[in-house]
Amino acid sequence: MIKFYIKNYGCQMNIYDSQRMADALTSSGYTAASEQEDADILIFNSCSIRSKADEKLFSDLGRARQNTTKVPVIVVTGCVAQLQHEEIMRRAPFVNIILGPQDIHHLLHYLSMPHDKCLVSVSLDATKKFACLPDNYSSRTISEFLTIQEGCNKCCTYCIVPYTRGREFSRSVKEIVSELRKLIDHGVKEVTLLGQNVNSYIDEDSNTDFAGLLETIATTPGLLRLRYTTSHPKHITEALARAHRDIPVLMPFIHLPVQSGSDIILKRMNRHYDRAEYMDKVAMLREYRPDIAFSSDFIVGFPGETDENFQDTISLVNEVKFAQAYSFKYSPRPRTGAALMPNQIDEDVKSERLQTLQTLLENQQKEYNAQFIGRQVEVLILKPGRYDKQLVGRTPYGQAITIESKDLSIGDVCTATVVNVEPHSLMGQI
Ligand code: 5AD
Ligand code: SF4
Repeated sequence: MIKFYIKNYGCQMNIYDSQRMADALTSSGYTAASEQEDADILIFNSCSIRSKADEKLFSDLGRARQNTTKVPVIVVTGCVAQLQHEEIMRRAPFVNIILGPQDIHHLLHYLSMPHDKCLVSVSLDATKKFACLPDNYSSRTISEFLTIQEGCNKCCTYCIVPYTRGREFSRSVKEIVSELRKLIDHGVKEVTLLGQNVNSYIDEDSNTDFAGLLETIATTPGLLRLRYTTSHPKHITEALARAHRDIPVLMPFIHLPVQSGSDIILKRMNRHYDRAEYMDKVAMLREYRPDIAFSSDFIVGFPGETDENFQDTISLVNEVKFAQAYSFKYSPRPRTGAALMPNQIDEDVKSERLQTLQTLLENQQKEYNAQFIGRQVEVLILKPGRYDKQLVGRTPYGQAITIESKDLSIGDVCTATVVNVEPHSLMGQI
């Protein structure tokens, strides 16, 4: 029995790719190892969004070599594989296979070949991956991801993604519908559609845009909840806002990265919108779906960011009021425009700004959750909790909620009254 272990780094798109690689391996007779040390094949699905993520890969690669009792076949996939395959071969010459994010369908074939030299495929061609990956699925959970679009044509000046996942590519409606049905057949009840710019989705053949896709798939029997991530503010259309009002399974939650509240910084980031446009999109979504919850991403310390520019971010946060958010210190990435910009910001200043922003965002999350005390929410139960009879689920607004019940099971939907809030989750009573 040949055992494999996949270590995943980075975003949901990588989680999806790891799952598809696991499916390919299990359908060919390999089995999943529960420990990295047990594996005959060790796959590192890497991320390079910030420099910390790719440093982590290199240190884990070094450790993999030292720790194992076996000498596993080592595979590096994902964004670092795409961008730094030569550096991987130089710094980790024991790596056997390197596959970019659009080349993971070669995995089985490459595993069957001799490994006397490192096998590399980093084509950046997104058109073949989905067609070539085997489509027999191993087990699925109640809530799963479905990649509908990859790559990015926007070229934000801080971002490495256009170099790691290539140009925008949308899968056909037909292919998405078929995969969605299969997920539901495997017990999935909540699906999150994925794309780097999910709402710029377009199927040219059937002339279907993102709002059209949502409308088409929303009525799939057995689909209880539909989500999507990550949206670009530029592509929030009135039709999408309307979909949030009209489609019952579309959850009242949107991850809408703003990155900065300063027009000068947004322009230098090449984000294709300004603060007023972002605020207009927020207002439009709220007009159609007043209870919609907002989440966002922020970068502090972008080159040239002054205290005043940073205060514009703070004031935007105060205006929007986010239900949750992620924030990062700017990290210069190779080949990106911002890495070469003058006035790079000191790490100390970045840390201080990050601290200020995170304190504010955490308080907003607490305030957002506190409004729910005493309210009834619909809960989809996703997994067992830490203690006996405890179950963990999710509200329509994306909050984790813990309830106690001996009658309910994973996959059930129930109504709970929120009795308490913790910093990042709710406590509910049936
Ligand atoms: N430095 C810091 N954060 C970054 N992000 C993307 N590139 C960088 C970078 N170079 C953040 C953005 C994006 C999220 C996925 O990661 O906020 O929305
Ligand atoms: Fe990391 Fe971006 Fe690649 Fe996702 S797409 S794995 S976040 S670099």
